[in-house]
This record gives sequence, C-alpha cells and structure tokens, in this order.
Amino acid sequence: MPEAIAYSTRRFTFSAGHHYRVAAWSEDENQRVFGRLTVPHGHNYTLDVTVRGRVDRATGMVIDLAELKRIVNECVVERFDHADLNADPLFRGRVPTTENLAIVAWDLLAAKLGVERLWQVRVWEDATLFVDYRGGGEPQADEWARGDDRRGEATPRARR
Ligand code: NI
Repeated sequence: MPEAIAYSTRRFTFSAGHHYRVAAWSEDENQRVFGRLTVPHGHNYTLDVTVRGRVDRATGMVIDLAELKRIVNECVVERFDHADLNADPLFRGRVPTTENLAIVAWDLLAAKLGVERLWQVRVWEDATLFVDYRGGGEPQADEWARGDDRRGEATPRARR
C-alpha cells in the first residue's frame, strides 16, 4: 500500500499596522497608485500554514502540530503581532502588501520547516482578501503542464 500524502493546515492570527508607499515615487504618484492605503492603518491578519508530508504510520500525523505551532509563533506571529510592518527590515524597499507578507512569512518558515514540508502560506488581510504563496518565482513549465493538482508526483518539485 503506498504511503498516504496529506496536507495539514494550522491557523494563526496577529494584528499589524502598515501603509503603502514607494519611497522612490513622488507623493502624487503614491497617491495615484495607492490612494488611502498611504495612510497608516491596521489589520487583523489570519495566517494559514499548510505542511505536506507522508502520514506517519505510527503517529498518524504529517507533522508534530505542536512543533508547527511553536515554529510559526516564534518565526512569524511574535515578529509581526502589534508591529509596524513598514518598520521591519524585511519590508525595507518592499511595500507591505498581503502578497509581500505571504512571501516574507514563507521565507521565514521555509528556513525552519524546509521547502519539502512547507506547502503553502495563506495570508488573510480580512474576510474578503487572501493571498496564497507556495515559494518560488516564475512557475516552472512542467508545473503549469501538470496543473495545480500535484498529487502523486514522484519527486518533489524544484523550488527556487
Ligand atoms: Ni491595509
């Protein structure tokens, strides 16, 4: 019997402030592109972290969920909760959009969990907007050809 692959997701919440501004642009240009998002404000973010792996025959689990909780809290939640995202060095030269927050969270977690285990980071800015990030830059040609459903793939896909 082949080993089962499962995707386990754990949810976290944190609150952070931000505003959108590109330093190299004029005030007019920032206003034109970002409008009221140039005004500092906050969000109650939700972060869904999904790990992928074989279901361990003994434990019945993909990952020790207590370990996952500890890592995400240490790496992401404690860093950004009640923080000004614009002041974080990770957002230097990078507008703290939900997209970039997902990328930053991915990078922090991938360093601890490894890209073979970390499958997806989903950041909700509010109930109407979320961004998914699965690492990497431009999609690889073979990923597109296979489509989004990667069940049964023989080898982990390459990531950048
Ligand atoms: Ni905002």
